[in-house]
Amino acid sequence: MTKEAFWNKHHLGCDEHYLVHKLREDKDYIPELSRIALKNGEVIGCIMYSKAQVVDGLDIHEIVTFGPLSVAPKWQGCGVGELLLRETMKLAAGKGYKGIVIFGEPDYYPRIGFKTCDNFNITTSDGKNFDAFMAIELAQDSMKDIKGKFYESEVFENLPKEEVEEYNKNFPKLKKLRFPGQWD
Ligand SMILES: CC(C)(COP(=O)(O)OP(=O)(O)OC[C@H]1O[C@@H](n2cnc3c(N)ncnc32)[C@H](O)[C@@H]1OP(=O)(O)O)[C@@H](O)C(=O)NCCC(=O)NCCS
Repeated sequence: MTKEAFWNKHHLGCDEHYLVHKLREDKDYIPELSRIALKNGEVIGCIMYSKAQVVDGLDIHEIVTFGPLSVAPKWQGCGVGELLLRETMKLAAGKGYKGIVIFGEPDYYPRIGFKTCDNFNITTSDGKNFDAFMAIELAQDSMKDIKGKFYESEVFENLPKEEVEEYNKNFPKLKKLRFPGQWD
């Protein structure tokens, strides 16, 4: 489902389905916040959370990130993504997490309340800010004392192309196509 949701969406093909595979075995994965959406027993949506940090010198703040978030193509635009987000944000708040920082679709997440990280004095690990780098507080002012550089789990950077290609053999073959709007 994740492969179908992301295939050719942002890049030629995708690797998010392999990320799902790796993340669920990873020490940083947080299953108690992650959820799937089911319709008549079929998985039509999925959101996976993992541990992340905002580091300011010796101050290390434990926060969370999510990704991938995916909705099956035929169910996109029906509110499933928003439902998964709102439900899991409640869970994360209930477990005492202060905030969520993500790299995500800059035109989608602001409707849920995400703001770019420059609003929180948070930068990427190499000191950058851009539209796709966003955060949300899980309670009022819960991130007011959190600033610094954002680090997500290493699993996000450990998706070699050859491993993705090998993993693709487990699924029906999809054609790699170029579309306008892809990021690269
Ligand atoms: C992005 C995604 C998770 C959103 O979930 P969804 O269930 O389709 O979206 P919702 O039904 O909650 O919200 C629908 C609204 O969001 C908008 N929207 C959906 N995807 C969007 C996107 N990529 N960019 C901007 N707006 C988007 C829709 O136009 C719709 O707007 P409207 O209510 O004004 O008509 C889903 O479309 C998806 O899986 N996309 C492919 C994978 C992906 O890009 N994941 C996110 C990567 S950060």
